[in-house]
Amino acid sequence: MDNILDAIQKSAIRIKKAIDTKDIGYSQQQNATGDTQLQLDIQCDLICEEEFSKALSINTLVSEEKEKETLLNRDGQYFVAFDPLDGSSLIDVNLSVGSIFGIYDGSFDVKNLIVSCYVVYGPRTELVYAKDGVVQFFLLQNGEFEFVKNIELKEKGKLNAPGGTQQNWPPFHKEMIDGLFQEGYRLRYSGGMVPDLHQILLKGGGLFSYPSTSDKPDGKLRMLYEAHPFAHIFKAAGGDQCDGVNDLLTMDAKHIHDTTPCFFGSKYEIARVKEVYGAQ
Ligand code: AHG
Ligand code: MN
Ligand code: MN
Repeated sequence: MDNILDAIQKSAIRIKKAIDTKDIGYSQQQNATGDTQLQLDIQCDLICEEEFSKALSINTLVSEEKEKETLLNRDGQYFVAFDPLDGSSLIDVNLSVGSIFGIYDGSFDVKNLIVSCYVVYGPRTELVYAKDGVVQFFLLQNGEFEFVKNIELKEKGKLNAPGGTQQNWPPFHKEMIDGLFQEGYRLRYSGGMVPDLHQILLKGGGLFSYPSTSDKPDGKLRMLYEAHPFAHIFKAAGGDQCDGVNDLLTMDAKHIHDTTPCFFGSKYEIARVKEVYGAQ
């Protein structure tokens, strides 16, 4: 496992450099979910694959940027799903982006997700790692990751990050989101899942939602390398998560790029989501 975490750290350092220097033009290719890939998406995927290839304990990789799984070592124990560059469409407006990693033991069944991790590339580069608890690290100039603190969510927060196109929200979802604003929640949404969730984790809590919408009935965010790792992180930080009704950590993907509606937050806000969605 250590060699996998080492590969993640090395990837983070190389991706940070690529973001600061690489061409940000679009390629002619699309990924499995139909997003047109930035040169940088492809470059960051290559970086991760190169670094993961050195870890002999990895059996198989799933990348947002690759249609199929990549077998690395037939008798490897761990299965790694990752989004090498999340929020890449924000690069050209110089907003924060991230990388997301889920490390599964033995298969990609969600019950086997044992370590989740993300890197946020912003004014600083930070790495957050969840196993039983959630730990925050800063990337220092010398390439070291320095421990900062354990992250714990409060029972109830103040931030509201409502994803998806509002005109395509179900009416009851819109009512729930507006209700939180009427309770004084502050709007914090950049369109980058990693910085949007990092902010809620560090500012004590709130709600991030990317619901089922009329244009995306199964939501937009991918289970294996976006929703499951963050569900694990929020649970481990003392918060909660769901797909509206079910615990995301009980919902297995049928296909490696399956998406799901997803809600992450403090306990109070997720209880509200379950109450509203459970009543539909
Ligand atoms: P990616 O760049 O890896 O495709 O992910 C983008 C995702 C996620 O970062 C964010 O929460 C969501 O797209 C935003 O979607 P909308 O622009 O529809 O709000
Ligand atoms: Mn993504
Ligand atoms: Mn991505």
